Amino acid sequence: MATWSAPGKVFLFGEHAVVYGKPGLAMAIKPRIHVTVRRHRHPAPAKSPYVEQCFRELGVTGSVYVMSQMPSSAGLGSSAAVTVATLSATNDEFRLELDREEIATIAHRIEQAVQKGRASPTDTYVSTMGGLVLIMGEARRRIPPTNLSLVVGNTQVSHSTSRMVELVAEERQRCPDVISPILDAIGALTLEGLRKLDEPKELGRLMDVNHALLDAIGVGHPSLTKLVIAARAAGAFGAKLTGAGGGGCMIALAPRTGKTRITGALDAAGAKAFITTIDTAGVRKEHDA
Ligand code: MEV
Repeated sequence: MATWSAPGKVFLFGEHAVVYGKPGLAMAIKPRIHVTVRRHRHPAPAKSPYVEQCFRELGVTGSVYVMSQMPSSAGLGSSAAVTVATLSATNDEFRLELDREEIATIAHRIEQAVQKGRASPTDTYVSTMGGLVLIMGEARRRIPPTNLSLVVGNTQVSHSTSRMVELVAEERQRCPDVISPILDAIGALTLEGLRKLDEPKELGRLMDVNHALLDAIGVGHPSLTKLVIAARAAGAFGAKLTGAGGGGCMIALAPRTGKTRITGALDAAGAKAFITTIDTAGVRKEHDA
């Protein structure tokens, strides 16, 4: 039996644009998802298509127990975390000797297969490596971790990542001269954000702009707008949706002493809010229970 855990993630900048090779900046966050894998010749069918695909990819069979405090279908990378933790626990249980780069690569392949379409390597890479990561086309660069004070607000409106990705693709095809420059601008914001990581006021302002651009390409939602406005009114430096949009979660960049106030304002606006920070560990082995 082997138990491994992997973190979720938020996009500070660049979701959707990364699908088109533009830069995106994502950060691994707590909470983590725990997965236990045990060798089993005739296991019950896995409930998750991601888990099923993990065993298919690695050519073994086992039983799986997933323990998660992270909301699913909310833009926090829960399916990537389940995939990365399942692959790592299976790798350990069956002594397959895969390293972390290989785990990240296989996890990305699995996400793409299950999501039947475009999926950037962001969620799976960040969950595997932890910390702060710049994704730019095929390149992934680990950025020195910075301790940003973030509040996550979950609208509790569930969304489908593949549907939202498809929606942007349709818009881009319908109106390329409008949508493509917006995706370029989102990529430029990521690079600007990278330069302002130590300047929370500036960083917050850029997050606000990123949110407006995501709204413009059609991935906003009234519940997200409400939360973003509530967070800013409660003193956030900036706020934006995170992940695929159309529901799911938003993040607010909070002053060190303002996190509780922002959390309260988000709760009062109908969200399930929590304070989080960077998780630098990435996927790791846990003690077996
Ligand atoms: C989903 O967390 C982020 C998207 O950019 C899709 C992807 O990167 O695969 C919408």
